[in-house]
Amino acid sequence: MQYSKIVGLGHHVPERIITNEYLSSIIDTNDAWIIERTGIKERRFIDPTKDTVANMAAKATRMALERAKLTEKDIEFIVFATITPDYFFPGSGVLLQRELGLEGIGALDVRNACSGFIYALSIADQFIKTGMYKTILVIGAEIQSTALDLTTRGRNTAVIFGDGAGAAILQASDKPGILSTHLHSDGRFAEELYVKDPGSSRPHEERQPEQILDTSTFKVVMNGNQVFKHAVVRFMEVIKEALDANELKKEDINLLVPHQANLRISQYIQEKLNLSDKQVYNNIMRYGNTTAASIPIALSEAWAEGRVKENDLVCLAAFGSGFTWASALIRW
Ligand SMILES: CC(C)(COP(=O)(O)OP(=O)(O)OC[C@H]1O[C@@H](n2cnc3c(N)ncnc32)[C@H](O)[C@@H]1OP(=O)(O)O)[C@@H](O)C(=O)NCCC(=O)NCCS
Repeated sequence: MQYSKIVGLGHHVPERIITNEYLSSIIDTNDAWIIERTGIKERRFIDPTKDTVANMAAKATRMALERAKLTEKDIEFIVFATITPDYFFPGSGVLLQRELGLEGIGALDVRNACSGFIYALSIADQFIKTGMYKTILVIGAEIQSTALDLTTRGRNTAVIFGDGAGAAILQASDKPGILSTHLHSDGRFAEELYVKDPGSSRPHEERQPEQILDTSTFKVVMNGNQVFKHAVVRFMEVIKEALDANELKKEDINLLVPHQANLRISQYIQEKLNLSDKQVYNNIMRYGNTTAASIPIALSEAWAEGRVKENDLVCLAAFGSGFTWASALIRW
């Protein structure tokens, strides 16, 4: 039986730190409100003159390759999770392939928002299990800042999201590895957290409005209460599903790395699962919610801090726009 193992992790976040104080100076919000509701103290926003989704992903990849003692040439396929590609099309996978100089290898984009990295990991895992590839680069990378409504109208999303990139290198192995992945969606809630434009199923004049700057449909829209309520239920369900599928118990989890949606959501899951602070990794305080990038950035930092050790049981879980939700159990 062929398994896949994460052999290298890397991440990159833009230099520009956006504090709660700064946001409070441009929109009607404040540090205490943001910390109480989300746990976020600061996040990173890109510098549009130098950062792109693909080049942040390339920096994360180089860190992952170095840690895995591999080179670009070892990568056979790219799975790139992002809902904020540099272009509407083509996707960021091909831009990363170009940036890394990996002529001709396949590159696939995954658009599953906050669950995107786990979906991407699952796809890579299947390719390795079937023997099609031996080394796959899995990316989660996002630039949310340029789509945020940075006015008081958009304050419920402006304070939450941030930019960044994370990378994982998956390799074939005789031993597990990724034990299982579990993927779900419920499109009935698609409009509870979404960016409407530039949607294709729109009249010509709406897809290409003259007054594009006044058009709020290009900005992130979120029904925070709905998202919160569904998130806490789905997170719990999908973690239980993963444990049951492997006949494991919550006590067996050494480290849970939840998608960094909101510290209150992470704390709720931690409490329900009765996990200690040592068993849950959070970095939303420093980066906000970086959508598909949040799990690989958190995993990369957790690994660098020595929080993930050989043979540990690591659980990844995510919930986000779609709605989509997913989990993965990994024997490190
Ligand atoms: C967004 C979220 C923090 C809002 O918290 P909430 O307790 O649900 O707050 P509400 O939206 O009910 O708003 C409460 C009040 O705060 C105000 N408010 C919203 N954003 C604010 C901000 N940034 N600063 C100050 N006040 C704000 C609202 O206008 C509202 O005021 P009102 O009572 O006078 O009408 C919360 O719903 C949440 O975390 N949801 C999940 C979001 C998430 O995880 N998204 C990512 C999923 S991947």
